[in-house]
Amino acid sequence: MGSCLSSRVDSDTQLHAGASSRYVGSDGRVLSSRRLLPASSVPLTPRGENEILDSATLNSFAFNDLRIATRNFRPDSVLGEGGFGCVFKGWIDEHSFKAAKPGTGIVIAVKRLNQDGSQGHKEWLAEINYLGQLYHPNLVKLVGYCLEDEHRLLVYEFMPRGSLENHLFRRSSHFQPLSWTIRMKVALGAAKGLAYLHSPEAKVIYRDFKASNILLDSSYNAKLSDFGLAKDGPMDGQSHVSTRIMGTYGYAAPEYMATGHLTAKSDVYSFGVVLLEMITGRRVMDKNRPQGEHNLIEWARPYLANIKRRVIQIMDPRIEGQYTMLAALRATSLAVKCLTVEPRNRPSMTDVVKALEQLQDSREPGSVKAEAVQKKQRKFGNNEATKRRAGSYPRQSTTPVNT
Ligand SMILES: Nc1ncnc2c1ncn2[C@@H]1O[C@H](COP(=O)(O)OP(=O)(O)OP(=O)(O)O)[C@@H](O)[C@H]1O
Ligand SMILES: [Mg+2]
Repeated sequence: MGSCLSSRVDSDTQLHAGASSRYVGSDGRVLSSRRLLPASSVPLTPRGENEILDSATLNSFAFNDLRIATRNFRPDSVLGEGGFGCVFKGWIDEHSFKAAKPGTGIVIAVKRLNQDGSQGHKEWLAEINYLGQLYHPNLVKLVGYCLEDEHRLLVYEFMPRGSLENHLFRRSSHFQPLSWTIRMKVALGAAKGLAYLHSPEAKVIYRDFKASNILLDSSYNAKLSDFGLAKDGPMDGQSHVSTRIMGTYGYAAPEYMATGHLTAKSDVYSFGVVLLEMITGRRVMDKNRPQGEHNLIEWARPYLANIKRRVIQIMDPRIEGQYTMLAALRATSLAVKCLTVEPRNRPSMTDVVKALEQLQDSREPGSVKAEAVQKKQRKFGNNEATKRRAGSYPRQSTTPVNT
């Protein structure tokens, strides 16, 4: 978060590792805890607005307005920090879109791209060109952008409850553990967003589905953000899009990591990872866990192979007793299906939406009661997880995968 201080924005180092570490893969690729682009790939030459597709609803902001709206990008306006820069809270007038006094007009979130690095122009542009054209209740709204001199910013609707990542993994009095019901609501909302992207209407592969890109409004409605890595889906007759391998380590599908062949089923895999994070309360990559538990998928494998008997042992202990056995089994087996190694055997996002809708219905009377779950939990215990309840979790080691 230190690099979000306005005085330091210009002088930060190019590789922006944040709280987590960087690694060099065996093939020499730089694998970092955040999404990054190789320095040489995107020159930071100012480019014109003619790269931006026409969009009736996007506003072009003056840098000075956004500076005033965020109170000079004040550190206490910072909402979060990602691989491309910091996100600030600000206020604008709802009619003129000019800066407004804090607490008046409408609240916005302003993402300011780092100026020191040579990364991000492509992603900035992709965000504008996708989010400027796509509308769905489960996609975050892009209000506008700013391109002025070397400044590149994006202006979004403000999402009062921040990211799913913060709610699942931050330990502080601000973030109480999300209940099972809310987790399933968020899963359904995010699934609807992805299903829309994959639909013939949009035909987009999202490529960066992860807990930090799922934002929550005041009623925990989930909205997907960050379309910087999104790609148009395969054209007729083609089975996949060939791309450079990019995304976030742990969430990216294994076949995509191995070949660079991208399909909508790569997103389905990432959805399975996030669903498993919600079920277990564990980050996909967590170096602070004991040896053998760093990778959630590896750790969960033996339990997932026998979920009927062992599902209780992977459930997040902080939500003990809030779900029925049936719901736990249904959610976990859905995650297992999404994580299938063979992409063709993964469900479509439309199937996932249906399954999650059925799961909501399984809360109706007649299902196995939560006491059955509690009884099993008492029997098996979940000592390791219980011990961690009071522990602190640093930010997830999300590893970008660049070639
Ligand atoms: N529209 C928004 N409303 C409220 N908070 C937001 C909004 N957009 C982003 N944030 C906050 O800012 C954080 C940083 O967002 P950003 O998209 O820059 O990075 P990230 O998704 O955490 O990481 P990465 O760069 O790897 O995608 C988010 O995790 C979230 O907490
Ligand atoms: Mg993000």
